Amino acid sequence: MRLADKAIVVTGAAHGIGRAYSERLASEGASVALLDIDAKRNEEVAEGINKDGGKAVAITTDVRDFARFRSAVDQAAKAFGKLTGIVNNAGMLNVVPITRCNFEDIPDAEWDESFRLNTKSAWYGCKAAVPHLRANKSGSIVNIGSSTIFRGVPTRAHYVAAKAALIGFNRTIARELGADYIRVNLVCPGSTLSEENPSQETVAMREAVVKTRCLPRLERPADLVGTIAFLQSDDSAFTTGQTFLVDGGSAFH
Ligand SMILES: NC(=O)c1ccc[n+]([C@@H]2O[C@H](COP(=O)([O-])OP(=O)(O)OC[C@H]3O[C@@H](n4cnc5c(N)ncnc54)[C@H](O)[C@@H]3O)[C@@H](O)[C@H]2O)c1
Repeated sequence: MRLADKAIVVTGAAHGIGRAYSERLASEGASVALLDIDAKRNEEVAEGINKDGGKAVAITTDVRDFARFRSAVDQAAKAFGKLTGIVNNAGMLNVVPITRCNFEDIPDAEWDESFRLNTKSAWYGCKAAVPHLRANKSGSIVNIGSSTIFRGVPTRAHYVAAKAALIGFNRTIARELGADYIRVNLVCPGSTLSEENPSQETVAMREAVVKTRCLPRLERPADLVGTIAFLQSDDSAFTTGQTFLVDGGSAFH
């Protein structure tokens, strides 16, 4: 299997798209450490993977707390004997919802929280993973942005700004880490039906984007997992500093 020699941390693995990433990486043979703030659901996802013949451990953490995040990554590396990659997926959306309003009305604390959860946690994840990756002189870091960066979607300026910051961050650390053959890429999902029990209103919100796409249908977590598996595999060994927009061709960059 393509990822048989890989040991990968996925954050925000208990729900939505992060769960789909974890299940796909495990199905391609990777050992996967699921890091999430929701301990119960995280355990259930890990159990499901292990029952299906995959290899997963669930580790409860809060990616906003560097000491806890680093200790969770260290625990994952210890459990698997190494670490080959991380997917910094935890962010705002459903479990930690975004207030959708015009930019003047964004609650002050939520602006800061958006940067804390969507941007600073990725920095923390990279800092926690890099010592383990450096030890092997290789590794793959994937951070998660959003197609909203390229589309300028109204009513969530704090979310879009926090995700957009990851482009510059990624390009910078790709240059800093390249000498150690550690790759850093950004994946930007389009509006994805990741909600577990979506209301009709949510489905309608997700469907509204369909008309902007070259490929005119709903996006689901399954549409994103192949790109993540590719970036965690040796098939992408010479790819770094790049931004992958996986949104059915809604935006171009
Ligand atoms: N769904 C979309 O349309 C879409 C589009 C573009 C980008 N994204 C991004 O993709 C990622 C996943 O999105 P989703 O729709 O699955 O979101 P989601 O809200 O359904 O899932 C987020 C996961 O992160 C976990 N989490 C939240 N705060 C945490 C913390 N402090 N520490 C550890 N774990 C924490 C949650 O428990 C959950 O498992 C996010 O970064 C999101 O911003 C989503």
